[in-house]
Amino acid sequence: MDAVSQQALGLMPRADLAARPPVVAVTSGKGGVGKTSLVANLGAILAARGQRVLLIDADYGLANLGVVFGVTAKRTLEDALEGRASLAETILSPLPNLALLPAGNGIRRLAALSATATGALLAGATELTRAYDLVLVDTAAGIAPAVLATLAWADEVVVVTGDDPASFVDSYAVLKLVLEEDAAKPVALIVNRVQRRADGERIQRNLAVVAERFLGRSPEALGVVPQDTQLAAAVRAQRLVAVDAPGSAAVKALTSLAPRLGRLQRPCPALAG
Ligand SMILES: Nc1ncnc2c1ncn2[C@@H]1O[C@H](COP(=O)(O)OP(=O)(O)O)[C@@H](O)[C@H]1O
Ligand SMILES: [Mg+2]
Repeated sequence: MDAVSQQALGLMPRADLAARPPVVAVTSGKGGVGKTSLVANLGAILAARGQRVLLIDADYGLANLGVVFGVTAKRTLEDALEGRASLAETILSPLPNLALLPAGNGIRRLAALSATATGALLAGATELTRAYDLVLVDTAAGIAPAVLATLAWADEVVVVTGDDPASFVDSYAVLKLVLEEDAAKPVALIVNRVQRRADGERIQRNLAVVAERFLGRSPEALGVVPQDTQLAAAVRAQRLVAVDAPGSAAVKALTSLAPRLGRLQRPCPALAG
């Protein structure tokens, strides 16, 4: 990012990062595991309980968090990067207590953000986060530099996995890179789209064993979310299942894990290395 864009974004280095609310990044190794759907609904659940929640779409080049809410951004991160708008001017409010910082879709510049540019962008967003109680970040899948820079910016990393072997292996890879960067980062696992609860719990146990053995840490088992046709139908209708069907199986699971976001355990100092 050049100096002009940095200035346009108001990227002032801040010493008091600690004053920001907890930032929770939701990520995955493999794509299509449900990150965006979970972030949107977790945000809606917490906002309905009175928390002021900021959702950040950090799938910078292929953003679709707004789509889940059925809202269209007039101004996006691209406008902010080009100096046509401030980051604050791009914020949408799809539900009471819920704000959304949209990214851009199909924008080459956003698709190719370097780790440095991503870090600068998020440093600029830090100022905005202070108006909220919790920040949930929806990332792209995988281990591209922009994703890893986003995870480094977050206080907590939640890895979403399916119950298939490919998802399992990729989740381990993400955990490994996150813990290599910061051995003490609070990390957690959500197993999504499970047919049977026992399958999800088995994935949690297996990943915990492998991670403990090879990384010296295991992710907190945040929860198991069932495959839920009501959630899928809501996504297709650009509605939120948490709003339309609060009694559905997926929403029940998300409602019970949501309060733990922003409060994940830090490892004990001896392990943090
Ligand atoms: N628990 C679930 N039950 C049923 N369908 C789900 C569930 N979670 C996600 N999906 C579906 O999976 C698809 C991909 O979800 P999405 O949130 O876009 O994944 P990601 O952001 O990880 O790429 C969507 O069509 C969504 O409806
Ligand atoms: Mg997504």
